[in-house]
Amino acid sequence: MSATTIDAATVAALDDEQLGYAFKGLPPGTEGVRLGDVGAQGWHALRDLAMPAMLLLGGPLERNLREMAAWCREQDVLLAPHGKTTMAPQLFARQVEAGCFAITCATPWHLRIYRHFGVGRVLYANELVEPALLAWIAAELARDPGFELYALADSVTTVEAMDRGLLDAPRPVRVLVEMGLPHGRTGCRTTGEAVAVAQAVVAASHLELAGVEGFEGLARAETVDGTIARVDVFLAQVVAAFEAIGAAGLLPDEPLVTAGGSAYFDRVVAAFRPLQARIVVRGGCYVTQDGGFYDQVSPLAGRSGGDRRLVNALEVWGAVVSRPETDFAVASFGRRDVPIDLGLPIAVKVARDGVAREVDGMQVVALSDQHAHLTIPPDLDLVAGDLVGARIIHPCGAFDRWRLLLVVDDDYRVTGGVRTFF
Ligand SMILES: Cc1ncc(COP(=O)(O)O)c(C=O)c1O
Repeated sequence: MSATTIDAATVAALDDEQLGYAFKGLPPGTEGVRLGDVGAQGWHALRDLAMPAMLLLGGPLERNLREMAAWCREQDVLLAPHGKTTMAPQLFARQVEAGCFAITCATPWHLRIYRHFGVGRVLYANELVEPALLAWIAAELARDPGFELYALADSVTTVEAMDRGLLDAPRPVRVLVEMGLPHGRTGCRTTGEAVAVAQAVVAASHLELAGVEGFEGLARAETVDGTIARVDVFLAQVVAAFEAIGAAGLLPDEPLVTAGGSAYFDRVVAAFRPLQARIVVRGGCYVTQDGGFYDQVSPLAGRSGGDRRLVNALEVWGAVVSRPETDFAVASFGRRDVPIDLGLPIAVKVARDGVAREVDGMQVVALSDQHAHLTIPPDLDLVAGDLVGARIIHPCGAFDRWRLLLVVDDDYRVTGGVRTFF
């Protein structure tokens, strides 16, 4: 199946946006600097920025884009990266360039942003239930003959609502029957429900059955092995639903089966491999990985035995604003700047006069809104005005706290900026 497209001119038009005071991290005196000219300013991230700053490490980012695309090609699976992680059309363009099948989204607003930037094929990994949204989708399908939309359904009621709402659609929306975990989130809980939903889709006038969907990333247990065991049980249910819908003669000629965030996509591919279907995985976090959760669990990081590896591509930096005790310092990033849902940032570097070095023994022990509380080795050479750099855990919560992430090279020279839309 062909890769999706994006409107390169609309993405490039982002370069014309004038930056300045409204963008956290930029130095004072940068009013009116165009986004497209950020890389030409000669800024050094660890000397010139107004801390805190969330940095996107250019080399690791490129590597992750390349490695994931290569892995999918080797496995003969399609990638529909979840765009909600970054909500950064400039990064979507890179994912499209790397050959992705579609871009995944979760909300009506995501879809509007994607369509503004001309994403051709969208996997709406949620139920479409709002009449106004469905009417807009019908109009969008009419406006753009190249627009293809996949969406989920987990009940006959939803299917009926979609069909009603798409009355004016010139061609059908493709529906994936969603399977879900007990007390998880959306999704049919039984194979019988899944078959009933598939029957309703086939009977609908403005819908077309495309296949089956699930999201294993909600499975949780105490240990990684325990979680993987639960993931496998859930994926077997997705397979059973797919087979039952197939046995009922409802599947199209080239069905899709899709699951797979950035943590267990190897299990997804293994479970779905025996099916006569195109497999679509949907990781979002892989694009930057992180310094904790994904770093440990990803089959291309902590669980990998091979050379193909995804690496951390995000660092938050803050200034040391105080060292009130020999073993305690306070830096200028807080929970307004970094995610905390899967763990506190991991402080790994310090910098003085623009020169960074790795340091052992620092720990972010708490975050206030605008401060990081760090325990540090008493003999560490660190004074107010130095900088502290940390890896974060869970990229989703890093991107949504920054309207602009600055891209740096291996020497922390700023090479560009990435705009987010949250
Ligand atoms: C339905 C769905 N698909 C894919 C993903 C992407 O997974 P990840 O965030 O692990 O990259 C998510 C993330 O929440 C999701 O909810």
